[in-house]
Amino acid sequence: MAYKIAILVGSLREASINRKVARTICAIRDDDLDCEMVEIGHLPLYNQDSDQDPPTEYVDFREKIAGADGILFVSPEYNRGIPGVLKNAIDIGSRPYGKSVWDGKPAAIVTASPGAIGGFGANHQIRQAGTFLNMPMMQQPEAYLGHVTDDKFDEDGRLKDGPLKDFVTKIAHAFHDWVDVIHKARAALAD
Ligand code: FNR
Repeated sequence: MAYKIAILVGSLREASINRKVARTICAIRDDDLDCEMVEIGHLPLYNQDSDQDPPTEYVDFREKIAGADGILFVSPEYNRGIPGVLKNAIDIGSRPYGKSVWDGKPAAIVTASPGAIGGFGANHQIRQAGTFLNMPMMQQPEAYLGHVTDDKFDEDGRLKDGPLKDFVTKIAHAFHDWVDVIHKARAALAD
């Protein structure tokens, strides 16, 4: 069975390396991960005043997340932290209070950077929010992808063969297995 995966990319840049990494992960498991890139750049800044009468962008976004079997965050690091556009999306999905669409969703975090430490700071800020939001988060492999430069990708925007692709392949398999195990455990408990 294919799992529906909502992918949130923390970069709006057209040539984003993170978006390309996300596409590569989906391509590796395209038989059993049914991926949708959920766009977040058009979402108005979260405002608690609109909880009672939310803009359609919030409603549509929350519906997409609610309908997913798993969430994959793929993000750059901005100034050692989570890009604002991604934090905004996380906040929108978390409200109104008690109606968070993140609750219980199995998830994983991948951060990629041309720099050496692979977005470690952003990765852990997303993880921290995920902990608070009760998202069962894949622990291993930790996915801090460093030295990710444009030349690592082919003309279709997928990772070329090599050690980075090998590691991303491991991440893709582990993420599929993580979503699978959480859903199977829930089904067993419900029996
Ligand atoms: C960056 N970049 C960056 N890189 C990093 O490793 N740690 C950091 O803290 C930052 N900070 C930062 C802030 C801002 C505002 C920008 C625009 C960039 C560099 C960043 O990793 C690089 O631009 C990536 O290519 C961004 O990811 P995408 O857009 O290619 O997915």
